[in-house]
Amino acid sequence: MAQDEVVARYSALARAALDGQDVTDCSAAEFERGGFGAAGYDDTSALPVTAVRASLGCGNPVAVAELRAGETVLDLGSGGGIDVLLSARRVGPSGTVYGLDASPDMLALARRNAEQAGVSNAEFLHGTIERVPLPGRVVDVVISNCVINLSEDKAVVLAEAFRVLRPGGRFGVSDVVVDGELDPERRRAAEQRVGCAAGALPVTAYRELLAAAGFVGVRIAPTADHGDGIRSAIVQAVKPAAGQGLEIRPMRASDADQVLAIYQAGLDTGQASFESVAPSWEGFTAARLPHLRYVAADTGTGQVVGWVAPRRCRPDPSTREWSSTASTSIPAARRTASAAPC
Ligand SMILES: C[S@@+](CC[C@H](N)C(=O)[O-])C[C@H]1O[C@@H](n2cnc3c(N)ncnc32)[C@H](O)[C@@H]1O
Repeated sequence: MAQDEVVARYSALARAALDGQDVTDCSAAEFERGGFGAAGYDDTSALPVTAVRASLGCGNPVAVAELRAGETVLDLGSGGGIDVLLSARRVGPSGTVYGLDASPDMLALARRNAEQAGVSNAEFLHGTIERVPLPGRVVDVVISNCVINLSEDKAVVLAEAFRVLRPGGRFGVSDVVVDGELDPERRRAAEQRVGCAAGALPVTAYRELLAAAGFVGVRIAPTADHGDGIRSAIVQAVKPAAGQGLEIRPMRASDADQVLAIYQAGLDTGQASFESVAPSWEGFTAARLPHLRYVAADTGTGQVVGWVAPRRCRPDPSTREWSSTASTSIPAARRTASAAPC
């Protein structure tokens, strides 16, 4: 389903909820079995009834977010606002929670719910999760509840989450994932049953996309089994922290000149016995694992000050082995690459 169709579908549900109707975006049988909507929450008694009734999630990301007073939180696809309201209480008056949604009707519903709940530290933004209308490095925690599975471009969504997070920031979402092999027809039917319009990600692909975006410490824990290999899961990851004024991010082709200059500077010290000239960029990238290449860059100037890129990992991630390819000593980058899955 294209993005405008997804938004139209949820806008209709928001209008129905504003009219006082009960709404659901999955099959009635699935909804009744639990695991969707308000069933994911232990205690909703302090929330406006319209926020609870419009809950269309597949878990409770706030329960595992470990929010602290004063933090800034972003909820991707905030819908009727249930997770924004819960987060706003946790971060307190010195914190801020942004709810982002592409449906103006959902935003109207969420703003009404926030007003009824007396929440004043929440702001609802109109926009898409593929293009978050916030500057980089302003958010401590990104949450989301059953929205990323709806996106046609999940790699871009994860890259946007990485961009807006501060170094050391946390990503913790509830989402629908595919676990195991499933023939495409059965998978499509199962996805329709649980309401995922554009295709849930297999667990391994989710891990790979998070690593490609730059995240480390990826954990994917199933929370409910919907049958046919479709599960709800809590997906958590961390944006690597670096020293002050530095960020660790994935290496890009546009870093080539700076990375190879650092490489050559390392060779010029005369420490390397096996080569004396840095390779071409093509030779460099061909020799190194694409998902484990990181640079440390100055957050002000963008200048690359170091890189790390191993040649190989052993099959067992707990015993992976590095070749001696890091030409500069950037401990944070090395730690980052070590924490990423082989
Ligand atoms: C399944 S509902 C979940 C709502 C809310 N997170 C909850 O738990 O109740 C999906 C929400 O994401 C919004 N949405 C879907 N695709 C989006 C996109 N690409 N960008 C922004 N919002 C989107 C929809 O408008 C809808 O409000």
